[in-house]
Amino acid sequence: MTNVDELLARMSPAEKAGQLTQYFYFRLPAGAEAEPALGLDVAEQPQAVEAALSRGEAGSLLFVTDPGEINRLQRLALEGNPHGIPLLFGFDVIHGLRTIFPVPIAMAASWDPEIIERGQAIAAREARAVGIHWAFAPMVDIARDPRWGRIVEGAGEDPYLGAVVAAAQVRGFQRHIIAGPKHFGGYGAALGGRDYDEANLSDHELWNVYFPPFRAAIEAGAGNVMTAYMDLNGIPATASHWLFTEVLRDAWGFDGFVVSDANAVRNLVTHGFARDLTEAGERAVIAGVDMEMAIADPAYARLPESQAPAEVIDSRVRKILEAKVRLGLFDDPYVNEDRARTVLADPAHRAAAREAAQRTAVLLRNEGDLLPLDAGDLRSIAVLGPLADSKRDTLGPWVFDFDLDETVTVLDGIRGFVKDRADVDYAPGIPVGQRTFPSMFDMFGGNAPADPPGFDAEAEFARAVATAAAADVAVVVAGEWQNMIGEAASRSSLELPGRQLELLQAVVATGTPTVLLVMNGRPLDLRWAAEHVPAILDIWYPGTQGGAAVADLLFGDVSPSGKLPFTWPRTVGQIPMISSHTTSHEPENQARRYWDEASTPLFPFGHGLSYGRFSYGDLTVDRPVVGREGTVAVSVEVTNDADRAAAEVVQLYLRQRHGTASRPVRELKGFRRVVVPARSTVVVEFTIGPEHRRYWNAAVRDWVLDATSFDVEVGGSAASFDVRPAVAEG
Ligand code: GLC
Repeated sequence: MTNVDELLARMSPAEKAGQLTQYFYFRLPAGAEAEPALGLDVAEQPQAVEAALSRGEAGSLLFVTDPGEINRLQRLALEGNPHGIPLLFGFDVIHGLRTIFPVPIAMAASWDPEIIERGQAIAAREARAVGIHWAFAPMVDIARDPRWGRIVEGAGEDPYLGAVVAAAQVRGFQRHIIAGPKHFGGYGAALGGRDYDEANLSDHELWNVYFPPFRAAIEAGAGNVMTAYMDLNGIPATASHWLFTEVLRDAWGFDGFVVSDANAVRNLVTHGFARDLTEAGERAVIAGVDMEMAIADPAYARLPESQAPAEVIDSRVRKILEAKVRLGLFDDPYVNEDRARTVLADPAHRAAAREAAQRTAVLLRNEGDLLPLDAGDLRSIAVLGPLADSKRDTLGPWVFDFDLDETVTVLDGIRGFVKDRADVDYAPGIPVGQRTFPSMFDMFGGNAPADPPGFDAEAEFARAVATAAAADVAVVVAGEWQNMIGEAASRSSLELPGRQLELLQAVVATGTPTVLLVMNGRPLDLRWAAEHVPAILDIWYPGTQGGAAVADLLFGDVSPSGKLPFTWPRTVGQIPMISSHTTSHEPENQARRYWDEASTPLFPFGHGLSYGRFSYGDLTVDRPVVGREGTVAVSVEVTNDADRAAAEVVQLYLRQRHGTASRPVRELKGFRRVVVPARSTVVVEFTIGPEHRRYWNAAVRDWVLDATSFDVEVGGSAASFDVRPAVAEG
């Protein structure tokens, strides 16, 4: 066992500052230009970092994923410091390392903690096998403005779903590596949905909405938390003593370590908060930020000459050393390169990714039960749209170590499923969608979509329409290209980029039955499609095995069971729109708050259809009255009267009728994904405890449990029982 205090006593101030410093270390593809905002001299960076390692002035690296390279750099570090302190390697293992799972918003749409935990455990197993000790995940930021690109990385709008998903991800990660929930706190409330812009949130919103997923992640055992870039209520989150000492440590008892987001400590000067880098480092380390994630020229390197008290610095270094001891790095700092190859090749990982993609898809519409398709009953299937055949887009954003050769696109999946039973004809129809300015991830190469050489837009459009007209069914894949969502990828519109809607309209106009597969990470403007396309299946960015899973769903081997983790607006003008709003004033006109547009969503929170046919029996509670700290048992019968088994996500919502605050018209407080056999009924049970009824009250500025009455409702979506008075829309 390593005695951390003995180590500390032997370390110099520069060595201590080094342990609190994490550097990016990457070698970009030849000729790549680094994102200017990174302030990174691509040519110099690797050498500068290696020099810091040899001086014992770096405690951690990120963006190295090759086991041989990790071992080389670990050796440099161990030789560079006289105390034998090993390096901690962190990375963005967001939804897989080599085996890519559906994007996090899709995993949340499974409403299935088991598959979510399993997916992150596999990602963590692959990460640890290559020598990564720590994931900068889960991203648990509540997102209620889908213009914000990072909605794709989280679990949507709801604190209860977000908390369950956060805990499941942390349990999965922590089986092998450190989980690092991020970005604390309130990052998803960026002004105007513009990434990195300030967030201004009331304590009511912070405590009741934005904090619960972080609290759940910490209670699940997360060993790290990452700061957020932006100002929260006028104070840069990365220097907020309230966030990182009073809330995180004092109130919640967090005993792991905190890392800043990339360059967020240096940027305290940019915020107009710190006068210079020395003060930036001093104020962040005093606030509670143990480690600085830096590109170059770290602020924490200046800690020895700052005013930060020595005991504060020692307490921060102790956190980092304890994490390294817990991981066993002092005893075994290197990674076994042969084992890494074996683990990455494990076929069980691909099977799990396919199962996850099956469970995340959300069936938004299925008029006339067009789905599932009968592969034996079709002569020809048209598969249309450039996203149908894009391996890179099928994986989604925030992936770096993927294997494109083993990535299954929608076209691959349909061809693989149908085999020679029908002709499968592909036509992109339109040029790929292009961003109006480069993505920060373009520097890693292969990120921007490109048309096939010699692409003739008009001829290809005509060919696609003709292909649809000649087919028995048309499957159109449309959505956003993966570089249009994620970090630094917010949008002012939700429209389908490029000529996708035009293509969809032309295909529907041929009269061929049409299925729309949506490849996305945010709700998109589907008003036309929701009226004119009989079947719409949201497949998200479904990952390495995505196309195979999509075929399983399209042809009925598996029934869709996903549910929306956010409210799907009709148009960008309605944003923000949430399910758990209060009644407020004149609820009778709630469906028409605007005169020019309905005030209802296109699809409600928790919505998702199935190939099963579900109905809900009477809901019973074991007691009509319960003490303040008491618990109520709730049960409901769910019947599937279809001829096939299918999974349903049964959702429980509470509505407090009166009390010392106005409470939402419905709050999700329980859910269960259950498989209901054909023509069968199952009983689903929930308990409602005080923790489900307690909320933070802005009047008394504390948690309260009102003496009140509750409506308890259970259904297959938030709109199963619309508590608003029915209003004729017209
Ligand atoms: C990025 C992101 C953060 C990520 C980090 C390292 O800017 O904000 O989520 O983990 O830098 O890549």
